[in-house]
Amino acid sequence: MKVYLSRRYHFSASHRLHSDAYTPEQNRAAYGKCNNPHGHGHNYVVRITVSGPVDPVTGMVCNLAELDGFVRRVICERFDHKNLNQDSAFEKLVPTTENLCREIHRVVKSGFAHVMLEDVRVDETSNNSFEYSERERHLISVCK
Ligand code: NI
Repeated sequence: MKVYLSRRYHFSASHRLHSDAYTPEQNRAAYGKCNNPHGHGHNYVVRITVSGPVDPVTGMVCNLAELDGFVRRVICERFDHKNLNQDSAFEKLVPTTENLCREIHRVVKSGFAHVMLEDVRVDETSNNSFEYSERERHLISVCK
């Protein structure tokens, strides 16, 4: 029997949605005001869900302090108060929250491997959230 553990983290970052494969007109059509050359910011909320058996000694799925330390170091410190377009992950990828969600999933899955990473959800605004689920192996745009 496994138990799911979810934990929320926050960071603020800016981005500009722009694809080099598109003309300026196509970019404006695809991204609207998010293509503004000066960019804009979001207060992102990341929810990480892991799962596993409950350790009979600790009574826990995983050590929350370890998870917090890891996520704050590799995700929050990396992205907080940064321009996502300048991050190495987005040299060739548009820094949409879809792609941000996938990058966070990749980093947490590879670096915090002793528990099962179930899914990563990123809230971009109160109306938009994105989820990358290992269980369903696809990206879900909850509301865009
Ligand atoms: Ni945006």
